Amino acid sequence: MKFDPASKIQDLLQFGEYGDVNPSVTDSATFTFMQAKTMLDTFHGEAEGCFLYSRHWNPSNKYLADALAAMEGTEAAWVTASGMGAITSAILQLCNAGDHIVASRTTYGGTFAFLNNYVEKFNIGVTFVNITDLKEVEAAIKPNTRIVYTETVTNPLLEVSDVRRLADIAHKHNAKLLVDNTFTPMMITPAQLGADVVLYSLTKFVNGKNDCVAGAICGSKEFIASLIDVNSGTAMLLGPVLDPFRSSSILKNLHTLHIRMQQHSRNAMYLAEKLEEIGITVNYPGLKKHSGHALLKSIMNEKYGFGGMLSFDAGTADKAAEVMEMMESEGVGYLAVSLGYFKTLFSNSGKSTSSEVPEEKQKEMGLSEGLIRFSVGLDSEIDRTFDMIKKCLKQAGMIK
Ligand SMILES: Cc1ncc(COP(=O)(O)O)c(C=O)c1O
Repeated sequence: MKFDPASKIQDLLQFGEYGDVNPSVTDSATFTFMQAKTMLDTFHGEAEGCFLYSRHWNPSNKYLADALAAMEGTEAAWVTASGMGAITSAILQLCNAGDHIVASRTTYGGTFAFLNNYVEKFNIGVTFVNITDLKEVEAAIKPNTRIVYTETVTNPLLEVSDVRRLADIAHKHNAKLLVDNTFTPMMITPAQLGADVVLYSLTKFVNGKNDCVAGAICGSKEFIASLIDVNSGTAMLLGPVLDPFRSSSILKNLHTLHIRMQQHSRNAMYLAEKLEEIGITVNYPGLKKHSGHALLKSIMNEKYGFGGMLSFDAGTADKAAEVMEMMESEGVGYLAVSLGYFKTLFSNSGKSTSSEVPEEKQKEMGLSEGLIRFSVGLDSEIDRTFDMIKKCLKQAGMIK
């Protein structure tokens, strides 16, 4: 049987205490107990179904976490106040001072900054690698390597991670594979391919409304329990918990994610093919010429397409700025960071979401200064959007 994340969510029976079809929002920081012993047991993680304090667990957060765990086919999940809250909590839970991480050199800029600048204060070493070069990945592993870290489809270069083989390499060396699946929810289910922990910025496609920041950590029951252990859990002790009102609204949006991903993918494929036809070289994993196309096909779930992210190079940062400003006035979408929104968003990665990566490193990894990253929206008439983009490219002298 093929794994279908949308059906896994659909099959959940989650309703509120009055039969409310959307589970109630539990608007409480703390919870009362009829017996003092049950409170004590809950502190020790031994009272199933009891809630103690909302930094630890809240019923609304649990509904969303359960739905995300179902989507990923993991035993459990926990929801955070941002994607960075999820990424940093998971990493700090697994690493002690003196440990080592092997990480993809192309990741979201905030993740790069955390790994490159922040963890050194705990004497945690990081080796950045070309994640598509499995020999380089394995060669970078040291006896103290605890984590191999990647994004399924990397930000912003859209390189495809061979999750299965990366899991094999990590496990052979007693390390965990952590995968940020923010760009490819539904499309790829990393835990089914061997990833130990799946991370999300829910801010993006999963919520899809750009009305909040949120994140998630999906993994084994044991790992999630360790994260919220009252004595030693990183999530419990650093406290990056999601607000229950947000959990409730994200859960409702999660139920339309499969349809949205299909439309994002259809629109992105249309734009990629049409832009190529008019002579623009497009980076989109749905195109056969993309270096990760065959790999992506071999690991993706059916039906959801190749995703909503694509990019092309305007040559220079100035030209990128000119084209983006024109596209915004023309109505293509917004010049804004972030992604997974119902409207198309575009930004120059080198000067925005990857600006934390020093320029020489950007060059080394192949991130050109004129790269415009698109998060293609849910446009009803994508041919109309294409005409607008074409007009801007003509005006900017990028095509005849
Ligand atoms: C791939 C990826 N992971 C994580 C994050 C961080 O998420 P958040 O902004 O929700 O903290 C981002 C943000 O752009 C991202 O693109």
